[in-house]
Amino acid sequence: MKCTTLFHREDYRWLAFGQDPSRPDNVIDTNQVVVVSGNSVMLLDPGGMEVFPPMMAALTREVRIDQIKHVFFSHQDPDVCSSLPLWRQVCPGDMKVYVPWMWAGFVSHFDRDARLEKIPDEGMDVTMGDARLRILPAHYLHSPGNYHVYDPAAKVLFSGDVGAALVPPQSRRDSLFVHDFSSHVQFMEAFHKRWMGSARARDAWIDMVSRLEIDVLAPQHGLIFRGDDVKRFLEWFSALDIGSGLAAMRRGR
Ligand SMILES: [Fe+2]
Ligand SMILES: [Fe+2]
Repeated sequence: MKCTTLFHREDYRWLAFGQDPSRPDNVIDTNQVVVVSGNSVMLLDPGGMEVFPPMMAALTREVRIDQIKHVFFSHQDPDVCSSLPLWRQVCPGDMKVYVPWMWAGFVSHFDRDARLEKIPDEGMDVTMGDARLRILPAHYLHSPGNYHVYDPAAKVLFSGDVGAALVPPQSRRDSLFVHDFSSHVQFMEAFHKRWMGSARARDAWIDMVSRLEIDVLAPQHGLIFRGDDVKRFLEWFSALDIGSGLAAMRRGR
């Protein structure tokens, strides 16, 4: 599994792990993002249970398992959080697990013994060493209880399924970063049209994040945007016709 540095200043780092070569073809490729600040580590969307062994192997080359003090789940999907019981077996017993309040009872189906920190609708701040992380609301994008994580010091936004792309293996390059935005659109378009259902939510999210300084926008699937590609993505998403599933409902009558 590849490990890419998104931000690095002394002992303060943002890392993205992805493109695991051992991933079976029938599960979606995911990026596992990790914030390291001093002696503390936070996992953002640590992934499905199938990705746990390669993720553990790649992660422990960078940090110690006993440093993992926080885990964040952007929403309830299995590709986001079905690895929870496995992480809890190896991580410190007092590790904090942040879950959208409305999904806490559902995520407990993966791990009924986990003690969950419920994120309120408006989000919350988490301080971890020198890092001041802001959990921002991103409801209905795509889940009705959905959050992203912004770091104003690193200027990184972890955007969950927003910005996600399904990139076929033959189109992958060495880098986890978007290389050519216009040719990358083909891998994002169908996903955003179908998985993102609310134009009002999209517009509110664009309005919120446009006021943030973002050098790197890291989604949970596909490639990562940096520099001018962040702006290109926001412009593209703001104009996209989303909610494509509605067409089938009209046909189904
Ligand atoms: Fe999802
Ligand atoms: Fe996802």
